[in-house]
Amino acid sequence: MGSLRHRLLGWLLAATAALGSLALADTWSEAVATARAVSDRVLAGSALAIAERVTVADDAQLQADIPYSALEMLTSTAQDSVFYRVDGPDGFMTGYADLPVAEPQGDGAGYADADFAGAPIRVITLARTVSTGIESIPFRVTVAESKLARNQLSRAILLRSAARLALMIGGAAAIIWIAVPLALRPLNRLGGEIGVRRTDDLSPLPADVPQEVQGLVGAMNSFMTRLDTALAALRNFTGNASHQLRTPLAVIRTQLVLAQRAGDDRAVRAAVAKADAALSDAERILAQLLLLARVDAAAGHPMAAALDAEALARDLTAAMIPRAADAGIDLGFDGRPATVRAEPVLLTEALKNLLDNALAYAGPGAEITVSVTRQGTDAVIAVEDDGPGIPAPAMARLTSRFARGAEAPARPGGSGLGLAIVTEIAQLFGGGLALSPGRSGRGLRAELRLPAA
Ligand SMILES: Nc1ncnc2c1ncn2[C@@H]1O[C@H](COP(=O)(O)OP(=O)(O)O)[C@@H](O)[C@H]1O
Ligand SMILES: [Mg+2]
Repeated sequence: MGSLRHRLLGWLLAATAALGSLALADTWSEAVATARAVSDRVLAGSALAIAERVTVADDAQLQADIPYSALEMLTSTAQDSVFYRVDGPDGFMTGYADLPVAEPQGDGAGYADADFAGAPIRVITLARTVSTGIESIPFRVTVAESKLARNQLSRAILLRSAARLALMIGGAAAIIWIAVPLALRPLNRLGGEIGVRRTDDLSPLPADVPQEVQGLVGAMNSFMTRLDTALAALRNFTGNASHQLRTPLAVIRTQLVLAQRAGDDRAVRAAVAKADAALSDAERILAQLLLLARVDAAAGHPMAAALDAEALARDLTAAMIPRAADAGIDLGFDGRPATVRAEPVLLTEALKNLLDNALAYAGPGAEITVSVTRQGTDAVIAVEDDGPGIPAPAMARLTSRFARGAEAPARPGGSGLGLAIVTEIAQLFGGGLALSPGRSGRGLRAELRLPAA
């Protein structure tokens, strides 16, 4: 994103360049007007000086005695050329005969810009009269000068204001160059403070920062609060998870010790069988934990595709029938066509957990029905048994991680993660899990509801 210093400088320079050009354009027109007003006044003075020296001679003819001083007042450092002419009633009298004339206005003076001898000139013509005592004789005095001096004057005014402007822009740029790092000091201090923090220190950052940074600090503090909550949940989870794994591992160790000390083959075989069962428990728990980690990882961006829920549930039910038969349970399927958007492996795992539970807790002689139906815009995959069920007050609690029923510890291989996994997978695909008593108030009905595709 570049540097703030450079950005501010860029903005300053762009803004002052735009505003400065406007100011300079205004200064230029002002300078030209001022130079013209000043020079015109001098030009008029010199024309007046000449007009005053126009007299009537004895023969009643006009005569002009051009005073040197009248033209000298026009000589400037710019070495302007000066021209004049005097016209009487009969036309040109003296001076430059082809010098252009400005038409006098009401006040007897006329100004004009013209070209003469290949250079631009400023012309003033004065219309006056001189009295013979009997009559008034009109005459005109025209004075002109080249424009070097006035151009020089307006250029000097412009250059001076441009220099002043440049100085101000340079000063402002220098201030920004120095002030930005100073203004950013609190941020650096904040950065330093975060840099040396211990990873488990999620206490709020200091609030003594400039107003503009307070939003950032507030957001970071609220983020750290959430992070703290998430970390606490993670610590709690890993604690629970290691506890769940430690139990079967302890059983395995005990059984191995027993096997070592056992006197006869039968005792050894019994101990090894128990160790093997505990190992299967550990495997199952590990599989559940890994599955949960996968669901967590997919949160926010699950891979979902259109899926035939009926076929998926039917296949899984069919695969479970031998296990159900072993447990003396009657497992049935009742499906209607329904398509959902989900990830097949995760949805299968969710359904497997519901079936596992029913097979584990319904008890011998129970009847389990897996059904798929459409309800409005939802597809509902339900696993219903007529076993002991779950007391209504416990239902909400048992869907959270590591929560198990009162009788459950008697059943090995469980970790209390099953219903939590089902809930989280359902939520991942925009649905949910609902528990209710089965038909006729007996057993448990677990409904996995997903939006139909
Ligand atoms: N079909 C069911 N019938 C009776 N109780 C059930 C059933 N399914 C789940 N439960 C109860 O809910 C608890 C939580 O289930 P679950 O999250 O799958 O954990 P786990 O099966 O590992 O104990 C179980 O311990 C059990 O007490
Ligand atoms: Mg379970």
